[in-house]
Amino acid sequence: MTPGAPDTSGLANSAWRSAWRRACVQPRRITDPLGSPRLRHEIAEHLRQMRSLLADPRHVVVTGGARAGLAELIQVLCDGSGCLTVGVESPGYPSLRKVPTALGHRIIGLPTDDQGLDPDGLPTGGDARNVDAVLVTPSHQYPWGGSLSASRRAAVIEWAESAGCWIIEDDFDSELRHVGAPLPALASLDAQHTIVLGTFSSVLTPALGCGYLVVPPELVGPFARQRQATGQPVAAIVQEAVADYLSTGALRRRTQRMRQVYRRRRDTVIDILGSVPGATLQPIDGGLHAVLRVDGCEEEVVEGCRREGVGVTPLSTYWGSTDADAAGIVLGFGSHDDDTLAAALTTIARVVADRTGS
Ligand SMILES: Cc1ncc(COP(=O)(O)O)c(C=O)c1O
Repeated sequence: MTPGAPDTSGLANSAWRSAWRRACVQPRRITDPLGSPRLRHEIAEHLRQMRSLLADPRHVVVTGGARAGLAELIQVLCDGSGCLTVGVESPGYPSLRKVPTALGHRIIGLPTDDQGLDPDGLPTGGDARNVDAVLVTPSHQYPWGGSLSASRRAAVIEWAESAGCWIIEDDFDSELRHVGAPLPALASLDAQHTIVLGTFSSVLTPALGCGYLVVPPELVGPFARQRQATGQPVAAIVQEAVADYLSTGALRRRTQRMRQVYRRRRDTVIDILGSVPGATLQPIDGGLHAVLRVDGCEEEVVEGCRREGVGVTPLSTYWGSTDADAAGIVLGFGSHDDDTLAAALTTIARVVADRTGS
């Protein structure tokens, strides 16, 4: 039950097929280093409609997904000048945290609770000025699932301004909210310091390998120069097919439909795991994963589920070091059909109840 994996059944409808057919039959070369102008326009339109974020298409960069986009961004921010310090949420999404370290940069953990990044825990004084960028998930914290309140958002922006630091907003899952209205993107409150890191992995499929960045105007030139050297990371055929699919409104329609499907599956998770003795289910306000806290028996539960054929992720792996201060399991509920999901959740509930001795 891979956290964050979407349901891709039904994706290949007529809009999807004809977008790919057109892109393959009339393949075009893309000469703009930042990506297909048509796709950048459609991404800006998508952000306007889905996130109420007004982005200038000239500031949109097509990337190979969130991780690939972060890797390119770090290279642009670094500009060949030594080692960057990047603040990452702790706990936070492990795969993104690995990107700066894989490129030889330094990461520092930023304290995060169930309401998201805690601005009171951000570095101060000289330590703050040493931080080059912070990577945050304000609309749907990973893994806790909380959203950053308006006052915390204001505090993070104020801190970044005074520290002279970039905010990298990982907007993963923001379209898939289950309760309440979506909160505004940090980038709509502060477009000067905030870079939006987006991906089509959760709303379409990770198999696409396509995402985007929205960068402040001063990074457009440096990005274009880097791309002139490194080339396009996403095949022109993929870019044109995604542009075509978006232009028909098919993604908006699919997201609306899938939100209902995911809401129903989220309700199934709450029904089956919401009252398991000895465990606490964290609120699931959005996204495609749930966190079930099982203090004191994380390893046994993960292993017990594995033996029953159900793969779940230990919560402690979301901390960068060994200082995890909560134990539990993280499980994706998006990708399996309703019956398979219910059967897997029933297994988890049984394994947890056995291990917690309740
Ligand atoms: C919070 C978060 N950010 C980013 C990603 C990765 O996106 P991509 O597959 O486009 O690299 C994921 C994938 O699950 C995620 O959970």
